[in-house]
Amino acid sequence: MSSNIVKIFDTTLRDGEQAPGCGMTAEEKLRVAYQLEKLGVDIIEAGFPISSEGDFQSVKIIAERIRGCEVAGLCRANFNDIDRAWEAVKGAEYPRIHTFIATSDIHLKHKLRKDKDEVLEIISGAVKHAKRYTDNVEFSTEDATRTDLDYLCRSVDVAIRAGATIINIPDTVGYTVPEEFSYIIKTLKEKVPGIEDVTLSVHCHNDLGLAVANSIAAVNEGARQVECTINGLGERAGNASLEEIVMAIKVRNDRHPYETNIITENIYPTSRIVSQVTGVSVQPNKAIVGANAFAHEAGIHQDGVLKERITYEIMKAEEVGIPSNKIILGKHSGRHAFKKRLEEYGYFLDEKDFHHAFRMFKDLADKKKYVFDEDIEALISEEFVRSSDFYKLISANFSSGTDMNPVATVKLSIDGDEVTVSETGSGPVDAAYKAISKATGVTPNLEHYVVASITGGMDAQGEVTVRIEKDGIFSQGQGSSTDIVVASAKAYINALNKLRWRKEHPRRVTTTGL
Ligand code: KIV
Ligand code: ZN
Repeated sequence: MSSNIVKIFDTTLRDGEQAPGCGMTAEEKLRVAYQLEKLGVDIIEAGFPISSEGDFQSVKIIAERIRGCEVAGLCRANFNDIDRAWEAVKGAEYPRIHTFIATSDIHLKHKLRKDKDEVLEIISGAVKHAKRYTDNVEFSTEDATRTDLDYLCRSVDVAIRAGATIINIPDTVGYTVPEEFSYIIKTLKEKVPGIEDVTLSVHCHNDLGLAVANSIAAVNEGARQVECTINGLGERAGNASLEEIVMAIKVRNDRHPYETNIITENIYPTSRIVSQVTGVSVQPNKAIVGANAFAHEAGIHQDGVLKERITYEIMKAEEVGIPSNKIILGKHSGRHAFKKRLEEYGYFLDEKDFHHAFRMFKDLADKKKYVFDEDIEALISEEFVRSSDFYKLISANFSSGTDMNPVATVKLSIDGDEVTVSETGSGPVDAAYKAISKATGVTPNLEHYVVASITGGMDAQGEVTVRIEKDGIFSQGQGSSTDIVVASAKAYINALNKLRWRKEHPRRVTTTGL
């Protein structure tokens, strides 16, 4: 397989979702999947169907709705898992079964408690079983980079003989370094017969901050599929970041003469949607999509960029979809301009939703002089991107000051019923959180609470991110408003909705806890 196209396999909805607190509802996953399709990814790994009923349903619905890219379901190397994965993905235009088993001595001894020959038999049986359903079978050697290299070659050989058409080499624990990973890929290519007829893939974790560098090193040795996630989301330190791999290939095409099918102008909107849906903010200095990725603070840099952009910029913000003209709309803007802006960001609302969104935009424009793109995204995401079926904020009123006890009164819709509760607290946010907890009957631990300003200016909207925990289940939420107490209440309710969804859709297994 010597094509110069590097296929992008996005696993935001599977490995990304395994990050603590990043659980998404089926509706949210579908929303992200539509955006990934628009971004131009080649394969969407939609989930791990055996892990829970909720995951099965999300993969199924994504498989049925997404057209134009492959949809993969993950499964361990056993018949039950494979049957379930096929059941979930079979409605896709291009379904793929992705099956895996660990091959390192460490995993064989401590986790699987099997010897090497037993694992080879399992690989052969599992791949052959998957092949009964489809030709499109990917096999992964979990913990490949800590696997004895001869045994890795034997495992890959067995998988290819059994019919795997894609061989994925994961750096499961983010342990390898570029020179070593290049050597592993090179050795596989030299030693495994028939490897030239399959697509070689890599899947790198970022524990040492090397996931992108390792992935690119492997591409240079002939890997033609990379597994990655939006914003580098994923277990522990995350997975290789899609946007970084794609832009490293594009910007340094002199060193990496390959192409991807990614429409790079859709990178930033996708990053924002994933951040809003998961409630996980992107660090400001994150490459490609961080708020500061194209900002120049130092006078000397500003001067250089003003004279000639290429003095300090290696790519254009617009190339990755960051709008150059930040101020877009105000209270005099009409329906047409608003609709166009929404569509540029990937929000295609029906007439009723559009009417509602336009009213909200006008309300916001009355409070703020300029309505920035980020304001619009925040507003749309809260109302239309997230699922808020269980708890919804109807109204919130607070009073606080230096000479009084802070009081909050919140009116919520809880499973369709309206409930109003008042509480006092050490501050207005504390009072609001107590009132919301009382109304919903859920009192989680508040692990993390951060307020940031979405844009500049005195009238900027505040964006609040919270992380909560209850009975070992984590969840994150975001909320925004020109009033930070309202933003705080929205973020808390968003996190409570996700907590409840996770509770009602428990995972029976995860890839790490096998
Ligand atoms: O990191 C890993 O090894 C995985 C596999 C299941 C592909 O996510
Ligand atoms: Zn992984």
